[in-house]
Amino acid sequence: MLRSILPEGVEVEELHGDSVAVLFPQEAAVVADAVAERRREFTSVRVCARKALRRLGCPPVPLVPDAAGAPVWPQGVVGSMTHCRGYRAAAVAPAGRWQSVGVDAEPRLPLPAGVLEAISLPEEREWLRALGRAHAEIPWDRLLFSTKEAVYKVWFPLTARRLEFEQARVTLRPDGSFLAELLVPRPPFRTLVGRWSAGDEHLVTAAAVPRAT
Ligand SMILES: CC(C)(COP(=O)(O)OP(=O)(O)OC[C@H]1O[C@@H](n2cnc3c(N)ncnc32)[C@H](O)[C@@H]1OP(=O)(O)O)[C@@H](O)C(=O)NCCC(=O)NCCS
Repeated sequence: MLRSILPEGVEVEELHGDSVAVLFPQEAAVVADAVAERRREFTSVRVCARKALRRLGCPPVPLVPDAAGAPVWPQGVVGSMTHCRGYRAAAVAPAGRWQSVGVDAEPRLPLPAGVLEAISLPEEREWLRALGRAHAEIPWDRLLFSTKEAVYKVWFPLTARRLEFEQARVTLRPDGSFLAELLVPRPPFRTLVGRWSAGDEHLVTAAAVPRAT
């Protein structure tokens, strides 16, 4: 799913389910006290990441989160990871060509009651209502959430700053694209164009910022 919405040159690896693998000791230490599901998603997404990295010519290395939780990639690589029930994926790209990549996956289900109000702007909620009338088969509220998570994963490695949900205004388009406008002073990118896709069980969103821009 993610492969189809990321540009050529970004390596993607996905898993529906889990993969049994041995973590590096530094990685194992991160999830030593975690519940079983957290250990499974952490491990499986790293299996994805190492496969994708291999296609960039990178040998297997520990992929440990930084203090903010963001993955630390090998020198010369940018990337992003995501996991949700039944789906894990990693995307990596050469830093010489890409500044940042962000991916997110969510179950294809409406958000729990009350969440949309916390993660959206009034105009976004109005747009979602119109989208819902025209394309009721897509849970647009969940898709908006996923898009904002992907935008954050692009944003954070470039800024090391938090971005609140109301600081990005996202226009979702039925053609599988989205536009995010950054509503903060001096952002590294004022707008970000990305793509989304809806599978039977999951929604995926992704964006990548090329180096030239
Ligand atoms: C960090 C965050 C985006 C992760 O998204 P999520 O939907 O909860 O979880 P996902 O499974 O999709 O992604 C988890 C992965 O994101 C990555 N991640 C975590 N923090 C990150 C950060 N600060 N920057 C980039 N990637 C990060 C990690 O690789 C993590 O997997 P891992 O812990 O196994 O290494 C989310 O938890 C969060 O903090 N959101 C609040 C900020 C936000 O989204 N603002 C919206 C601005 S418009």
